[in-house]
Amino acid sequence: MILTGGGQIGMAIARRIGYGMKIVVGDKRLENAEAVANTMNKAGFDAVPTKMDLSERNSILGLIGKAQQYGEIAMLVNAAGVSPSQASIESILKVDLYGTAVLLEEIGKIIKTGGMGVTISSQSGHRLPALGEEADRLLACTVTEKLLALELLQPCNIRDTLHAYQLAKRCNVKRVMAEAIKWGKRGARINSISPGIIVTPLALDEFNGPRGKFYKDMFSKCPVGRPGTADEVANVAELLMSNRGAFITGADFLVDGGATATYFYGD
Ligand SMILES: NC(=O)c1ccc[n+]([C@@H]2O[C@H](COP(=O)([O-])OP(=O)(O)OC[C@H]3O[C@@H](n4cnc5c(N)ncnc54)[C@H](O)[C@@H]3O)[C@@H](O)[C@H]2O)c1
Repeated sequence: MILTGGGQIGMAIARRIGYGMKIVVGDKRLENAEAVANTMNKAGFDAVPTKMDLSERNSILGLIGKAQQYGEIAMLVNAAGVSPSQASIESILKVDLYGTAVLLEEIGKIIKTGGMGVTISSQSGHRLPALGEEADRLLACTVTEKLLALELLQPCNIRDTLHAYQLAKRCNVKRVMAEAIKWGKRGARINSISPGIIVTPLALDEFNGPRGKFYKDMFSKCPVGRPGTADEVANVAELLMSNRGAFITGADFLVDGGATATYFYGD
């Protein structure tokens, strides 16, 4: 298994489905990958930490090469990313949008027959109005190296880091649809999960950032009335990454306690 992002969501998913596998954990911050690998290895898993940068194709290829030393890659869990309060517009687009697209593309070329993948998008992408058929097609199908040159991703068309994040996450969902066709030719499946507010270091940065009140209001007013946990995201990933999910590919699953429902149709 390749696990990108040594964070809470990634670890929760890997713990649910990664037993008995060699798990290569890649993170830009090596100490995060090491912390996850350490926790997992003390719980009977077999994880190896490595430094990698999702925003660089060569780094992604290096990670894949390292994982292939242990055998064919049967699973991908992509839970690396930066949030609107953590990064600039440019790095959100480079990591969350471009990097995810490259990772799905490169793993799709070598994934084991019958393999499975999940990438973490966000409820944020569900809040953007429809972009239209042409923009959706461009986000889904543009050659990865030309993605960041798209007119709709130019700085003059992006209001702030939240808008960049929403576009990146919308793009993740569209790339998953387009990649599912390619992965399908190898008998493999790829899906995305769009979590709402899940308590992790990334979310805590948001609670303490400029949009803190907005996020706290969001979870207190949603139908479930609380933020979620990484383990609840893993519940869905477990279905998608097992044979019970064999008919599910190219799909996105909103796991947000109903926050998106409240956003559109609440009081
Ligand atoms: N926590 C939430 O509320 C929430 C909600 C919706 C979506 N998400 C998404 O879930 C994913 C995982 O987030 P999390 O909440 O587990 O956060 P986290 O901070 O626990 O983990 C994210 C990890 O990604 C790593 N990372 C950042 N940039 C990287 C890069 N360029 N290359 C490699 N690794 C990099 C970080 O070092 C960190 O270890 C992200 O894509 C995030 O956008 C989170």
